[in-house]
Amino acid sequence: MKQRSTPSWRFIGMVTLLLIAPTTMSAESYQLVPRWGAASAYVSSPPSVLIQGGKVDSTDFSSYASGVNSADLITIPLDASFDVTSPPVSQLSFASAGPPYAFHTLSTGDENSSLLFGGDSGGSEPVETSATSVWLLNSTGFTHEPEAWGSQPIRRIYHSAVSSGGTVYITGGLKNDGSGQAFSDTYAFDSSSQVFTPMPPLPSGLYHHTTALLPNGTLLVVGGVAISTLTGNPSAIDMSTVYTFDTIADGSVWEERSLVGNPPTGRRGATLVLNDAGDQAFLYGGADAGLSQAMADGWKLDLTGCTWSQVLSSDGWSS
Ligand SMILES: *[C@@H]1O[C@H](CO)[C@@H](O)[C@H](O)[C@H]1NC(C)=O
Ligand SMILES: *[C@@H]1O[C@H](CO)[C@@H](O)[C@H](O)[C@H]1NC(C)=O
Ligand SMILES: *[C@@H]1O[C@H](CO)[C@@H](O)[C@H](O)[C@H]1NC(C)=O
Repeated sequence: MKQRSTPSWRFIGMVTLLLIAPTTMSAESYQLVPRWGAASAYVSSPPSVLIQGGKVDSTDFSSYASGVNSADLITIPLDASFDVTSPPVSQLSFASAGPPYAFHTLSTGDENSSLLFGGDSGGSEPVETSATSVWLLNSTGFTHEPEAWGSQPIRRIYHSAVSSGGTVYITGGLKNDGSGQAFSDTYAFDSSSQVFTPMPPLPSGLYHHTTALLPNGTLLVVGGVAISTLTGNPSAIDMSTVYTFDTIADGSVWEERSLVGNPPTGRRGATLVLNDAGDQAFLYGGADAGLSQAMADGWKLDLTGCTWSQVLSSDGWSS
């Protein structure tokens, strides 16, 4: 049984991934190119962000789904401040490189490894729906785990993953076969036993949502899209409600919570982060359900009062 703990506990769980292994890894400075559908993870030692894969567009004509898949692994150190117009980006390369996946997730696992899960393989795998998407990253590089390793569920895209204390929580996603099947599945991956355990399903299938794990162990699911039973098209979930799940208590079920204040318009592919105290969540950007319009607005969700307010207008200015 896990212990509920104080806010500082959240950071202990963020992995120490030792990226110093000169014989197997090299870092080269890197010219950032526009990239989407990449996976990213925060690494606490040394403090940095890792960005893996995604899609790049060499032609300027790619759609969201059609760009070319990349297998790049990029790092941005966070131990010193930098000019955001020219971040100190470098590319890491290992003898055992990572996969050219997009719309996957990368999550800190135990102190020495990260879990890459799901994603579109860009044709590098024979089937897009088998249980073959797990790669582990440690200081010597990536390892593609065999089919059904750790009871991994089948590959999916646009799912969400969040981790703490060695457990990675995976929610929802879309089957990557064009069928439009949205998953309500949720899993907890335990880094020490290296097993995926199913958790109770979400109330409905949803994908391209955001998640956060609150300091008290509550998993929060915000936004995303579901497939409309009327039209068969993606339909944005109303942001005046969120789903929560208590990962600590035994026998928890998903709960739908109503929020007050001024909720953002429904959206997919947004970014959600918590403040240090874990009592406020900030949501930025995203796109409408049909991916025809990108958004540049920012919102605050006060988790104590369950209240939304807007903090950045759609042209990116503080409001
Ligand atoms: C991480 O690596 C260190 C150094 O090899 C080792 O002492 C430690 O037990 C490892 N931690 C886990 C959780 O495997
Ligand atoms: C990294 O993972 C590979 C494959 O599981 C393993 O052989 C290697 O020993 C690991 N490296 C470290 C430093 O743990
Ligand atoms: C965890 O924190 C959230 C946000 O403050 C709160 O809504 C929820 O009820 C808390 N859950 C538990 C089990 O304490």
